[in-house]
Amino acid sequence: MLSKTIDPTNIPSHVAIIMDGNGRWAKAQGEDRLYGHSNGVASVRETLKAARELGVKYLTLYAFSTENWARPKSEIEGLMQLLVASIHNELDSLCENGVRLVTIGEIEKLPQDCIESLNEAKDKTKNHKEITLILALNYSSRDEIIRACNRLAEQVLQGNIAPGEIQQRHLEEALDTAHVPDPELLIRTSGEYRVSNFLLWQLAYAEMHFTKVFWPEFRKQHFIEAIADFQSRERRFGKTSEQLT
Ligand code: IPE
Ligand code: IPE
Ligand code: MG
Repeated sequence: MLSKTIDPTNIPSHVAIIMDGNGRWAKAQGEDRLYGHSNGVASVRETLKAARELGVKYLTLYAFSTENWARPKSEIEGLMQLLVASIHNELDSLCENGVRLVTIGEIEKLPQDCIESLNEAKDKTKNHKEITLILALNYSSRDEIIRACNRLAEQVLQGNIAPGEIQQRHLEEALDTAHVPDPELLIRTSGEYRVSNFLLWQLAYAEMHFTKVFWPEFRKQHFIEAIADFQSRERRFGKTSEQLT
């Protein structure tokens, strides 16, 4: 059942989430940081279900940033193990629910078992059409843009694009998010108000929803609150309010 507060004709087709606050949530429980990350998996499961039920077509989750390599080795190893275990546990459910899994970021630099699990899950889900789950792993937006620039430079060198003729669409097609519409809504949990190198190009006109809820406590009701907040905004894209009516 959809919440009464939601207009089913105005659901964002792409929602991106910075899943933050696992460590602080765990600390508040007197537990270690990995306990927070483990508990965040249930939030992912529930958010994916809520998004699918509401008709969201793309859900992007920031799971590991390029900057997160600076964390303690034990936390990184725990996160990578959790990734492999979660894919293993959730793959059947992704298949039953028509979820296509894709990734953005340089996954080639993740541990080998992560790469293999991700590739297997991507391959098994590649024809699914209900919703696309995009995991941002070893992702940083500046890094993505630089990699895209290098691809474009290569195309110019090969004579496919003339120098001086690079258009927005060329860059868009060279980003990891090629063929994915820009997110209309960004959610960040845990009361932090920053984008932390996430989808800098793609968020140009996204609505931003910030909640103080820590990621391990994020549930369907919070996702619905974010959608309701999105629906309360007037998206003007540079025009005046009067021009929109
Ligand atoms: C988000 O939670 C998960 C990752 C960045 C991997 P954090 O681990 O950043 O939790 P806090 O921000 O320290 O509470
Ligand atoms: C952003 O969270 C990255 C992910 C959610 C994976 P961080 O916790 O790493 O961001 P900062 O360091 O607080 O900006
Ligand atoms: Mg954090």
